[in-house]
Amino acid sequence: MSSFKEKIDSYHLPRHIAIIMDGNGRWAKERGYDRIFGHQNGVISVREVTEAAAETGIKYLTLYAFSTENWARPEHEVNALMELLVDTIEKETPTLNKNNVRLKAIGDLSRLPAGAAKKLQRCIAETSVNDGLTLVLALSYSSRWEINNAIKLLCNDVKNSKISISDITDETISNYLTTREIPDPDLMIRTSGEIRISNFLLWQIAYTELYFTNTHWPDFRKENFYEAIVEYQSRERRFGK
Ligand code: FPP
Repeated sequence: MSSFKEKIDSYHLPRHIAIIMDGNGRWAKERGYDRIFGHQNGVISVREVTEAAAETGIKYLTLYAFSTENWARPEHEVNALMELLVDTIEKETPTLNKNNVRLKAIGDLSRLPAGAAKKLQRCIAETSVNDGLTLVLALSYSSRWEINNAIKLLCNDVKNSKISISDITDETISNYLTTREIPDPDLMIRTSGEIRISNFLLWQIAYTELYFTNTHWPDFRKENFYEAIVEYQSRERRFGK
């Protein structure tokens, strides 16, 4: 069986792939388990896809791990997700280092429980010199929060005469987002059949190719990731020209 991996053109790789990891709950339910079992299995997919991205030579991989809206889920699910995140990050730090992966986080990190924030910052610091893949976790993230936050920061700088209104460009706005220093995604993948963006990287995906698959996140494996890259490479990107 020929694999999608062999079909990838390594000279035209997407530089940045963003993923909306959806369907953990449905995957678990279909098997008669609690939603948390779905999240636990979702971690296996996170590991697989991170490895696949590093091996392929992708420079940035952003995973939507926890949205601002997810805080409204039942307390036991929020706690389980936080625990899973922190445990995984802690356990995987040596592997990230071994594979030259740098961890970053975007989102309203001030809302994370203190213990989780500390462990996250430790992993970010311990992997900061790596220059292979940058793995970006979107945590307590929503695009509207991010844009709202950027506007406040920018208005403040205008008020303090650090920047004048006439000098504000698209690039200026990008620099006030939590994704500053991260290039815009070339490809965004959403699993589990939902055809929407759900408040993820709205400013950044102006010219991003979108890829939707029915596969639930816990079933998403390296081959699914390669398939998305092959599909991306078959598209013609014109950037509005
Ligand atoms: C969406 O499925 C998934 C999430 C909200 C959480 C994703 C988290 C993980 C995969 C685990 C930890 C991640 C890292 C980076 C270590 P859903 O619960 O919305 O599924 P549903 O739509 O079927 O209900």
